[in-house]
Amino acid sequence: KNIALVAGGYSGEYVISVQSAVTIEKNLDSNKYNVYKIVITKDSWSHTGNDGQVTEVDKNDFSLTLNGQKVKFDAVFIGIHGTPGEDGRLQGYFEMLDIPYTSCGMVTSALTFNKGYCNKVVATLDVVNVSKSVHIFRDQPFNSTDIFNKLKLPVFVKPAEGGSSIGMSKVSAAEELEPAIQKAFKEDSQVLIEEFIKGRELTIGIFKADGKVNVLPITEIVTSKEFFDYEAKYTPGITNEITPAPVSDAITSQVQQAATAIYNQLNFKGIARIDFIYEEATGKLFFLEANTMPGQSENSILPQQVRASGRTLQEFYGILLDECMK
Ligand code: DAL
Ligand code: MG
Repeated sequence: KNIALVAGGYSGEYVISVQSAVTIEKNLDSNKYNVYKIVITKDSWSHTGNDGQVTEVDKNDFSLTLNGQKVKFDAVFIGIHGTPGEDGRLQGYFEMLDIPYTSCGMVTSALTFNKGYCNKVVATLDVVNVSKSVHIFRDQPFNSTDIFNKLKLPVFVKPAEGGSSIGMSKVSAAEELEPAIQKAFKEDSQVLIEEFIKGRELTIGIFKADGKVNVLPITEIVTSKEFFDYEAKYTPGITNEITPAPVSDAITSQVQQAATAIYNQLNFKGIARIDFIYEEATGKLFFLEANTMPGQSENSILPQQVRASGRTLQEFYGILLDECMK
């Protein structure tokens, strides 16, 4: 089977996407799949051969012409965090071309990639708590007083469509709010301001195979930084990521049930990693976000969860690819 592994993307997560694609490529079974890595940037969609020859993709049918032969793909392994691989854009394109791909569909990807809209929809499912938040838009005036009337400090300020904590701040004093909003607006035209929940950060990988939803072991994130920011995510040693998380069976099943309900009710496909905060004072579980293209770099959580589940990455990536081609 010819498989295109798409990597790169247009966002600040480009570097992480490239690292994730390295892990994925290394672990795709070369006896089963002919893998062609295609790096997508704003300027080019291109494949670089072993001989260094660079070939542009024909976007009319997502094919490559190599040595005079047209190469078409049986499936696409999506390896891009952020736009256009995690927000529904490529998903819509591949749907139009009828090429299977390993991720959620266009609508689920677009919805979950926008933290403002995703919070609103997840809150209606009645399966998990969602922190209070305000979703603002660059071209609509906002007033800090209105925000403080709705939310208690501290708050997190995030670009609504972003990842890896880029452009994100924790705000503990009123005068820090405006600069934090301006910083987030540099990354995106929409910003989410969300009440901070003090608790344990838990994250779970979840995927579907043969019509059955499977959960991976939960990871607890314990960071020495103020929050699990970009540096804490990708610098070895700063953060302790404990898999499986040392939590009670009751908390484990609370997380598994919430993740499964979100996965099913929002019609996820392929692999996702859903992040939560468990508030110990009340025993309440809060939804943080859903990642439909979870990080797979050497320092990312998902590969740890796959290994802790007793699968090799090669088995796991094979399951995802075969599933999308069914
Ligand atoms: N957005 C990063 C890659 C993650 O969720 O793992
Ligand atoms: Mg994320």
